[in-house]
This record gives sequence, C-alpha cells and structure tokens, in this order.
Amino acid sequence: MSRVIVTGSAGRLGRSVVTVLRDCGHEVIGVDREADPGDPASRGADLTDARAASWLFSEVRPEAVIHLAAIAVPFSAPEDVILRTNTALAFAVMQAAVDAGARTVITASSPTVFGYGSPAGWTPRRLPLDESMEPEPWNAYALSKLVAERTARMFAAQLGNQVRFASFRPCYVIAPEEWHGALTQQGHTVLERLDRPELAAPALFNYVDARDAGMFLHVLMSGIRDIPNGETFLVGAADALARRPLAELIPDYLPQLTGVAADLTGSRPAFSIAKAQRLLGWHPTRSWRSELGVDAEPVLTRGAE
Ligand SMILES: NC(=O)c1ccc[n+]([C@@H]2O[C@H](COP(=O)([O-])OP(=O)(O)OC[C@H]3O[C@@H](n4cnc5c(N)ncnc54)[C@H](O)[C@@H]3O)[C@@H](O)[C@H]2O)c1
Repeated sequence: MSRVIVTGSAGRLGRSVVTVLRDCGHEVIGVDREADPGDPASRGADLTDARAASWLFSEVRPEAVIHLAAIAVPFSAPEDVILRTNTALAFAVMQAAVDAGARTVITASSPTVFGYGSPAGWTPRRLPLDESMEPEPWNAYALSKLVAERTARMFAAQLGNQVRFASFRPCYVIAPEEWHGALTQQGHTVLERLDRPELAAPALFNYVDARDAGMFLHVLMSGIRDIPNGETFLVGAADALARRPLAELIPDYLPQLTGVAADLTGSRPAFSIAKAQRLLGWHPTRSWRSELGVDAEPVLTRGAE
C-alpha cells in the first residue's frame, strides 16, 4: 500500500476517494484549499501556486498523487478563469508530484471532453462513447480537462516509464449522501434526475457512485505498472441514470442522436466502461437501482399514494 496525496480531498468526489483508499490500506494525505480540522493528515494549500505545491509535496514525499482539485462545474466561473485555473492546477500538481519522487500520477478529466451539448450541434459516430473517440471540447472546462489529460501524456513522454501517468473521466458523480436526498452537483436530487429525463439528458444520462470511482482509483494504482503509460479511462456506472432504455429516451430528448442510439437497449449506458474492465478488471458495484431500491417509484406516483 502507498502514501498517496489526493488533491481536492474536500470535494464531492475527493471525500469518498479518501475514505475508500484508507479502507484499502493506503496512507492518504488530503490536500485542499483549507486543511480539514477533523482530519489531522489533511493539508491546506492553493495548488495553483506551483511553489506552494512543490514545497508541500516534497515534504510529504508521496508514492502516488491523485489530482482531483479543479473548478469542477462548466460555466461556474468566467471561461478564462476556468481554463487558467484548471490547467495551472494540473501542471503544478503533476510537476510537484514528479519532483517529489512520486511514481504514480493520476489526474481527473471529464467525459465533457467528448463535446456533447455543443450549441453548434454534436453527433458522435457511434454510441456508447469510448476512449478511442476523438474529443471535441466546446467550452473552457472541457478544454481544461483535455489539457490535463495531455499534460499527463506530456510528462509520460518526457520521463518514460519510471513514472506512471493515467487520466480518468468520471461520469456525473453521486456522493453517498446524495442517494438519500442531498442535492447533486447540478442542484437536483437523484430522484428528480430520474423522474425528469430532461435533467440528465444533456450529459447523456451518465453517472457513477463516488465510492465506485474511489475503488477504480485503488485498482488503477495497483495495476498501473502493467498497462501502457498515459492511458485514459471512462469511469461510469454499468447502467444509465434513466428509468427507460436510452434507445427510447434519446429520440424524445436528444433527437439529433436518434440514429446512433438504437443499440442502447435495456439499461445500457451511453458511455462504455469496457476499457477499465479489460485492462484493469474494474467494474462498478453500485447503481441507482442498488442504492435506491429497484422499486424506487417516480416522485409523482409516490406523492399520489
Ligand atoms: N462531480 C462530477 O460529476 C465530475 C464529473 C467529471 C469530472 N469531475 C472532476 O473530478 C474532480 C473532482 O470533482 P468534484 O465534483 O469533487 O468537485 P468539487 O468542486 O466538489 O471539489 C473540487 C475541490 O478542489 C478544490 N480546489 C479547487 N481549486 C483549488 C486550488 N487552487 N487549490 C486547492 N484545492 C482546490 C476545491 O476546494 C474543492 O474541494 C474535478 O477535477 C472535476 O473536474 C467531476
């Protein structure tokens, strides 16, 4: 097991990643803007400050770094601020990790790199989407995530296999408390996203439980020396966040994608996780069905009872 720095440890995803990695036996040092008073191992730093990042990392001397810190919501700040902040964070954290002697560096990207929701129109060649498909970012957030992926690959090209890099694209993250009614990232409950397909449609009904993403990171750290350097993985649930098959929902909510959605029958999601399964043997263990109960009724139906 490793000494691991997790950046963005106070965030929706970071909190579960810290918990899961500790449960797996890792020594985890969480880093966020402010240290967590309830966690003596946590540290506070503004990681856009390359010198502060470098100083902190060289003191901790982690074997692995998982970089989650970012402005995590598209259009939640001016476009130039999002691009500048997220790319500066990615570069400063990866450089500090390498300088401190880390042998594994993993960075959070996003499925938004695919380009869905583009106002100019977007039609992929096929669904489900997979990592071999060309990214087409249309906003600063998605572009910043693509730059983070390429930054990881740049360091891999520079350093060879002595340091292993990887990126992952987590789908819409559901934190544990959000299964019980806490608001998700876009301000709705999970049940609202199920009952109102127009809410989940823009992100093609994607989601992942934060603990499953945490376990993915444990599995990736364990296997990273056995896969090519600089790989990118989609990390999602095995089903779609939808009560009806996407082959039926997409014609109603994303009609321009009707032609490529025909194979999304049953509970099949629009994002393939086959690569993580194939290269790492990872598979998610949670779904909205397991967390809410398969009989989770639509809100309106329950209200009428
Ligand atoms: N939540 C999702 O659905 C989702 C989906 C795809 C990708 N991601 C990516 O996963 C990562 C984590 O997302 P999240 O939902 O937990 O976001 P979040 O906003 O909940 O957490 C991000 C954390 O990063 C910290 N941070 C931001 N700037 C910092 C800085 N300069 N120095 C130190 N810490 C800083 C914030 O304080 C925050 O605690 C992000 O990189 C995000 O882009 C998230």
